[in-house]
Order: sequence, then structure tokens, then C-alpha cells
Amino acid sequence: MPSPLMNTPNPVDNSTTANGYIKKWWKEAVVYQIYPRSFKDSNGDGIGDLNGITSKLDYIKGLGVDVIWLCPHFDSPNADNGYDIRDYRKVMTEFGTMADLDEMLRGIKQRDMKLILDLVVNHTSDEHAWFVRSRQSKDNAYSDYYIWRPEKEDREPNNWISFFAGSAWKKDASREEYYLHLFADKQPDLNWDNPKVRTEVHDLMKFWLHKGIDGFRMDVIPFISKDQTFPDFPKDFDGRPEFIYAAGPKLHDYLQEMNREVLSKYDVMTVGEALGVTLEQTHLFVDERRNELNMIFHFDLVRLDRQGWKWKPWTLPEFKAICARFDQGMDSHCWPTVYLTNHDNPRSVSHFGDDSPEYRVRAAKLLATFQLTSKGTPFIYQGDELGMTNYPFTNIEEFDDIEVKNNWKAEVLTNRVSAEEYLFHQLRTSRDHTRTPMQWDDSANAGFTTGSKPWFVVNPNYKEINAKQALADENSIYHYYKTMLGLRKKTLAFVYGDYKDIDPQHVSLFAYTRTLGAKSYLILLNFSRNRISYTLPEGVKAGSLLVSNSDAKEEYSTLLHMDAWDARVYRL
Ligand code: NOJ
Repeated sequence: MPSPLMNTPNPVDNSTTANGYIKKWWKEAVVYQIYPRSFKDSNGDGIGDLNGITSKLDYIKGLGVDVIWLCPHFDSPNADNGYDIRDYRKVMTEFGTMADLDEMLRGIKQRDMKLILDLVVNHTSDEHAWFVRSRQSKDNAYSDYYIWRPEKEDREPNNWISFFAGSAWKKDASREEYYLHLFADKQPDLNWDNPKVRTEVHDLMKFWLHKGIDGFRMDVIPFISKDQTFPDFPKDFDGRPEFIYAAGPKLHDYLQEMNREVLSKYDVMTVGEALGVTLEQTHLFVDERRNELNMIFHFDLVRLDRQGWKWKPWTLPEFKAICARFDQGMDSHCWPTVYLTNHDNPRSVSHFGDDSPEYRVRAAKLLATFQLTSKGTPFIYQGDELGMTNYPFTNIEEFDDIEVKNNWKAEVLTNRVSAEEYLFHQLRTSRDHTRTPMQWDDSANAGFTTGSKPWFVVNPNYKEINAKQALADENSIYHYYKTMLGLRKKTLAFVYGDYKDIDPQHVSLFAYTRTLGAKSYLILLNFSRNRISYTLPEGVKAGSLLVSNSDAKEEYSTLLHMDAWDARVYRL
């Protein structure tokens, strides 16, 4: 029986906007992402938990968001912090119990918010009961739940590589065959060509939907279908396996089947993590007439300064070009997402802004202005509303992430790169920057835990950067987010409006308009420490000032003076 919690009313009327979008609640919603391990510990064991989240629901609601995306909370041995699931129907012991989850969900619904869960079904943990059986023999009921292949000429079945370094195949001693793992060897890939596997996935989705959750973020969903002939990488392989792994032949059949069997029966929101998916392929996933997913996360913006695990400099015109390309490349049948970080990326203010003590607050507010005036469903990562920054790692021992550690072994311990060079890049790119504990107050361990030892390092800047300070200071980043979220809620042009970059080549100013029907807005963002005097192009004149992250007062003018990291929103 569906739980009574399921029926949260959806206020959006499904009519069509002046520029052709069908209005949907999940298009107008703003999502707050929680990485439970690092959010709030309620029992002093140093690990964030569900009761910790429940205790902070007023804080989240206070920000003005509508939906919470919870990173994996399922039973897991934590080879990849929960992205290796041992039991899809059990809560991770460190995070609490199913009763705690029900309580958290009740608290979310009572506050008129929604919850989406992480659906991690490209792979399971090697400790999942299915894999334990699968590796036992070639002829039991679970033998074909995973992808097994004999060795080929004394080697792995093909030359595919894992995202966490090394071959994507591991030889299993008991079956004397290799199994595929696109991530860690403790994350074997499921065999989606086996209809029983697909039914299992549909069933576990229904299990959670019947609890009353409101949708899923789908982990590396484009990888679920594999070319079962397993050819080697092509001759011209460019070192980016994701584009090959995302090109499986049955991918869209499986997504349409999942939609038919499960998703179409609920009013839920779905967002696929689309590693390896180009802009040109996007409509295949999200065109509403195809009945697959609602939205996907692209990687182009967050990875604009990356080459593999290495960092490279980026420019604002490149950033703007990505925004423009994506805007033009998706018609009104598709819907984008807008995010600047998550648990796999560095902190947004350190990445795209300026985390110096002088400019951090301004820069974080500027990024909030960008995100909350952009088309698409915004996803805000925990702590970004406080302007939390990258962690000042000084040596490899301080990191936790399997990706950082495995690449260290593959690159540094083999003398391919020096320790200094490796750290230089990780200081800019590591996933661990966003995984440090939330900074709640200025007490020991930032108030994250009452215990003496948090599971992971706390950023030493917690005395200045924390939620208690932010709530008390009306000029804080948190309050600015609140203002911007309120403005977005009442301004449909920020959600659905047409987008126009009015000066794509400017190296430090991002200037664009958003227009819906008769309503038009101008957004000006100075992505630099330079003071800019800017004359608006012919025909554009700033009107009344709706929001500013500084004490600027200029209005009704074509000449504007922007200070370092100034952000403004004008009515046109
Ligand atoms: C993407 C997740 O976001 C990441 O954290 C994880 O390591 C991989 N998928 C594997 O599940």
C-alpha cells in the first residue's frame, strides 16, 4: 500500500509558458543536496546521520529550498562512501535505522519539502548478497546478475579502465573469471541485459516510492547498458572512457522500460548523472516526449578546467560559451539543471569565485546570483550557502577519497608524477574538498559532532565560516541565498525565461538577460577583482535594482560601475 506521505500536493499547474515550456513543479523547485556522512552527527560517533539531518530541517527549510537530495544512505561497506551498496532496503548502520528515515521523511513532508534519493544501480557492493552468490558458481540463480567474462589470451577480457585507476576487470579466484567494475573493484557492474536484474531494480525503486519519496538522482545512469562484445578502446581513444561507457546499445530501451514500469506511475522527479553524455545526446534522455528522465547533470561546466585528474586554467568567456551552447542546444521539450558543485567537485567559491578572506562573501553571493537566475533546476550543495571553501590539504595522508588514493598509487608511487605536482592538482580538483564536515558553529569540530573525532578533517576556517554566524548576520551568504531564492520563486522569468548573453567575449563581466513575455531582467556579474566601468550595449538600459551583493545603488543607467565580485539584478 502506498504510504499516506505520498500525496504532497504539487502547486504548479502544468500550463504552458509564453515561450513554450510546460510548467512542472520539478522545474520550479530548488534542490538542496545532503552528503549525510558530513552533514550533522547526532550521536557523537563522528559520522553524520539521519537524526542529525532531521534536527536541521528548519535550517534547510529556512533557506527556502523545496527538495532535498540525499546522497546514498543505504547499507554499505563504504569503499566509496555509500556508492557501493550492500543492501538497498536497509539504512547504513552509522546513519541510523529505517524508523529514523521515516521520521526524517515525515519532518520533510511536514515542512512541505520533498525528498529524492540516490539510485545507484550501475553497480552494487561486492558484499551485496547478489554478488556473493554470483561469484560462487557459473550456474546459480545469480550467476548472470553481473558481467563475467573468461580471460582473453592470458589477460583481461578487454582494455577498459576503471575510473579509480587500473583495469576495469578483476579476476575472481572462485569463479576463475573476470568481472567488470567501472569504478572500484568493490563495485561490480550489474548485468542489465539480464531481465531479472532490471526487475530487481524496478522493485527496489517501488519500495522507496511506496515510502513516499519524490524521485531519484540516478548515479552514472548512462553506463547501465554495455556492448556485450566488449571491444577494446578504439585506436583514436582520447583517454576519456566515459564517452565509450555511455554509448551502450540498450541504454534508452532500459530507461524507457523503467519509466513505463515505475516512474510513469508516480508524480516524481528524476535527474540522471550524465557522465559521458554530450549536449547533442541530451534530448535522448530528457525530451519529455520520449518518457525517460526529467533532467540530467552535464559535466561541461564543473569540469571546464580539468584534463583527467589534472587541473588547467579556465577563462570566463569559456564558462559563458558553455552556458550559451547548452541554452541553444536544448529546446522547450528538454529541461536543464544548474549546479556549480556537488560531492564530486571542489567547493564552488574556491573553484569559480574567490575564497580569499577579502572577497569570499561577495564571490559566493555572485555565484548564488548566477545559479538562481539561470534556466534549469538549481542544485545547491550543503555548505555552499555558507560559502564553505576548499580544505588546505598539505599531504596525501589527509585525504579520504578512493579516487585520490588510487590515482596517487598509479601516478606518484610509479614515479610518473611528483608528489608536489599531484598535490598541486588535488588542491584544486579533489572531491574531498566538499566532503569535510558541515560547519555549524564555532565550537569544537564546528559543532558537527558532539564526539571528539569527526570521521574527516574539519576545515580550520570554521570559527569564521559557520551556520550560527551566518544566521545571525543579516548580510551573510545564507541570507543572500534566501533573498535570491525568494526572488526566483516569484519571478518565473528566472526559471523559464529566454536567455541572452549580451557580451560573450568580455573577460571579467558576465552580463545576460532573462525574458519571459513582457518581463525582462538584466544580470551583471563581475567575475574578477577588477573595478569595471561598463557601458551597456545599444538598446539595453538597466532599470530598477532588485538585488545587489554590495552597497551599489546605480539604477536607470546605461553606464555602470562594478566593484570586485559585484553582482546585480535589474529589471529592464
Ligand atoms: C558518481 C558519484 O557521484 C560518485 O561519488 C561515485 O564515486 C561514482 N558515481 C560511483 O558510484
